[in-house]
Amino acid sequence: MNFASDNIVGASAPVLQAIVEANAGAMAAYGNDEISKRVRTRFNEIFEREVSVFFVTTGTAANALALSSAVPPYGLCVCHREAHIIDDECGAPEFFMHGAKLAGLPGVGAKLRAEDVAAYLESLPKAVKQMPPKALSISQVSEGGMVYGLDELSALGGVCREHGLSFHMDGARFANALVSLGCTPAEMTWKQGVDILSFGATKNGGLMAEAIVVFKPELAEALDYRSKRAGQIISKGRLAASQFEGYFADDHWLANARHANRMAALLSAGLLQVPGVRLGWPSQANEVFPIIPKALDRALKAAGILYHGWTELSLPETERVADHEVLIRLVTSWATREEDVRRLLELASSEVGRQAAE
Ligand SMILES: Cc1ncc(COP(=O)(O)O)c(C=O)c1O
Repeated sequence: MNFASDNIVGASAPVLQAIVEANAGAMAAYGNDEISKRVRTRFNEIFEREVSVFFVTTGTAANALALSSAVPPYGLCVCHREAHIIDDECGAPEFFMHGAKLAGLPGVGAKLRAEDVAAYLESLPKAVKQMPPKALSISQVSEGGMVYGLDELSALGGVCREHGLSFHMDGARFANALVSLGCTPAEMTWKQGVDILSFGATKNGGLMAEAIVVFKPELAEALDYRSKRAGQIISKGRLAASQFEGYFADDHWLANARHANRMAALLSAGLLQVPGVRLGWPSQANEVFPIIPKALDRALKAAGILYHGWTELSLPETERVADHEVLIRLVTSWATREEDVRRLLELASSEVGRQAAE
């Protein structure tokens, strides 16, 4: 059983079918084909307005290119200190921003609070030797599996407006956040002030389906050139775009995300019934962060269950992991089988019971 991440599974059948259908015949290359045009129109419909869409192959490329449009080389991009852009992209955002820096702030469950961002921005000296803040980047879902509510997004959007920052959303798990909130894509983005979005579909059924969606037109101006320089203008663009046709058709993307979130809800509710197990913070999408006894951790690993240990940096101040405990991350996906979740829970309960009896 593998709960290591949501990219450990393949692509979903409707996505693969859409690629197969797009495969026949000859069409213009580099995204100038009918399928890419259709998918761009579909993005306009989904976001209820005209948007610019750039297809890329990885979330790292989406983030780095999006931020390179929003932040000049002398600028600062504020993010959470556990953000994927700061921790997991090998410096790609800084590389593509040509020298700009990322400033990581703390926050429970890897979420930023508007008041903390505002206080940080106000604390920055305004001198020519100080890099001026130019963008805020948040991850929706956060790296801690938490979801920003619309009020929180709106407050962050307000801070960005007040301080003249562009607002970037890393939506590697966009659909999981969307169905968790039960709102529309427009409500979760530009209506709260988001200017540019990394729209991820790979984790939720895509093969390599990522897109940069731009709401603030000036941020799109040079993105085609930037994409080309990053090797991200995809030669057989129709095959990349076609993934989104399969993804969006019949609300397949929302069904996938609902399933993943339901599996995580089952997992977190079940884990809370296991003596000695608690959650580091609430699970709001498709990731669960339980604190478990080390003996249970050893037993789960010995049973062949795969998952990662996690940093304690984003725990609430009132919570701490004792010496005999460990904080772990369990991730569910569109393909997680309910029987596997139940098997994990049974194993955890019986193991804790067995250890207590010893
Ligand atoms: C929050 C977040 N952003 C972006 C990404 C995308 O990264 P990749 O370049 O691996 O597609 C990930 C993948 O783990 C992620 O968790």
